[in-house]
Amino acid sequence: MKPNMIEARKRTTIKTEYLEYDNKINKLFNGEKYFLRTYGCQMNVHDSEQIRAYLENLGLEETDTLEKAKVIVLNTCAIRENAHDKVFGYLGRCKHLKEEDPSIIVAIGGCMSQEEGVVSEIEQKYPYVDIVFGTHNIHDLPNMIMNAKGNQDIDVYSIEGKVYENTLYKRDSKITAWVNIMYGCDKFCTYCIVPYTRGRQRSRKSKYIIEEVDALVKEGYKEVTLLGQNVNAYGKDLEGEISFAKLLESVAKTGIARVRFVTSHPWDFTDEMIDTIAKYDNIMPYIHLPLQSGSDRILKLMGRRYTKEEYLNLFNKIKNKVRNATITTDIIVGFPGETEEDLNDTLEVVNTCKFDGAFTFIFSPREGTPAAKMEDNTPIEVKEQRLYKLNELVNKYSKESNLKYLNKEVKVLVTGVSEKDEDKIVGYTEEMKLVNIEGDKDNIGKIIPVIITDAKSFSLDGKVKEEIKC
Ligand code: 5AD
Ligand code: SF4
Repeated sequence: MKPNMIEARKRTTIKTEYLEYDNKINKLFNGEKYFLRTYGCQMNVHDSEQIRAYLENLGLEETDTLEKAKVIVLNTCAIRENAHDKVFGYLGRCKHLKEEDPSIIVAIGGCMSQEEGVVSEIEQKYPYVDIVFGTHNIHDLPNMIMNAKGNQDIDVYSIEGKVYENTLYKRDSKITAWVNIMYGCDKFCTYCIVPYTRGRQRSRKSKYIIEEVDALVKEGYKEVTLLGQNVNAYGKDLEGEISFAKLLESVAKTGIARVRFVTSHPWDFTDEMIDTIAKYDNIMPYIHLPLQSGSDRILKLMGRRYTKEEYLNLFNKIKNKVRNATITTDIIVGFPGETEEDLNDTLEVVNTCKFDGAFTFIFSPREGTPAAKMEDNTPIEVKEQRLYKLNELVNKYSKESNLKYLNKEVKVLVTGVSEKDEDKIVGYTEEMKLVNIEGDKDNIGKIIPVIITDAKSFSLDGKVKEEIKC
C-alpha cells in the first residue's frame, strides 16, 4: 500500500485501535549480520531500538560495517531536504554491494518512506531496494524480510490509526531510556511534514506507559525521557485519559531518579504542567520549547497558534516557577516572506530569553505542506547570512549559560565514557548540560556530585567532587 499525504491531511477525526503485538521469534538467519543506519530525531532513534529488536529476533547480529551486512536497513528522516540527499547518497553504496551479492536485502523505513514522491522515486530509480516500510508498520519488517524474493515490496500505511503495545525494544543504554507516550502530531504547522509522515496524534494509554516505566525502574534504569512530537498534547485524542501534567506526576511517582520529556508545544503548555515540574525533584528542570520565529506575522503564517508576547509570558512563568529552569529552543530563518524586520523580531526574542541553547535551521520547503506553496523571494545567500547572524547570538548565550556553572557543584548522571577522551567519563546535569568529567569509570550509571572546572559553548568540564583536594 502506498502512502497518501492528502488523505492524511483530510482526516479530521481518527479512531485509534489499540492492539497487542504478537512478537514471534523466527530465527531465519544464523548469526548473519545486519547494518542499521538511523537519520533524524529522537523518535527515529527510538524506532531503531525497535527495529534492532525485530532484526535480532530473526537471528541477525549487528555490524557497523556496511560491507559485512546481509540485511541493510536505513531508518530515514524527511524533516528537511538535506536529510533526503544523505539517504539517496547512501543508497548508491548499497547498489554496489547488491551487484556483488544479490541475496543482500536492502530496506528503507522511517519518515521518507511515508512520502508519496519518495516512494515513486524509489520504485523508478532504485529497483535494488527490496523493502519499503513506513513509520506505522515497523512491526511488519520481520515478515517483509522473511518474504523478500527479489521483487520490491512496498508496504506503507498512510492513514493507519493503530497503537501497538507489547512491542520490543533493544535499548541503546542500560541507564537512560526513551518511552513513547504518543505518536504523530495534530498541529499541522505549515512548514512541517511530520503530521503527514507520522500521521495524526495517537496517545498511548497511560496504564501501559506507567507499566513500561515501572519495568525500567526494576531493571535499574535511572532516567526516562517521555517522547512525542508534541508531548504536552498527550491524551487529547483519548476520551477520559489523564492530562500530560498528570502523566508526568504518575511517572515521577514510579520512583525513577530522573524524568525528562520532549518536545513541548508552547500552545499546549499549561500552568498545571509548570506546577508539576516545580513540585517533583525528579522531574528535570529542562524544557525544550520551540519558538520557531519571534515575528507575529511569521508565527501566524507558520500556524504556530501563539504570539511573541504569549511565548514570552510562558517563558517567564516557567523561569519564575521552576528552580534552575533551563530552556532551549528551535528557530527557523528564511520562512517564505520573512523580512529583515521579522528576523530582528526573532533576534530580539533571543536577546530577551537568552536561551540556554538553540537548534537553528534554514526553512526547507517540504512537498505537500502549505508553506512549500508560499511565495519565497529571499535568495539563499540572504537566508544563510540570517542564519549566521542568529547563530552568533545563540552561541553567545549558550556560552554565557554554561559560564554560570563555573566552580559550581552539579549533579551528573554518568552515562558512559567520553567520546572525546576515553580517560574521561561523561554525563548530563539535571539541566541537561553535557559534562566531560575526570573521574572513575565505576561512576557510570550513578548520579554524582561534580565541580565544574571549565565552560565551553556546548559542554562543560568537571571533576568528581571527592577527588578535588583543597
Ligand atoms: N524547514 C526547516 N526546519 C524545519 N523544522 C521542521 N520543519 C522544517 C522545515 N520544513 C524544524 C523546526 C522543528 C525542528 C524539529 O525542525 O524548528 O522544531
Ligand atoms: Fe511539526 Fe512540531 Fe508543528 Fe507538529 S508541532 S507540526 S511536529 S513543528
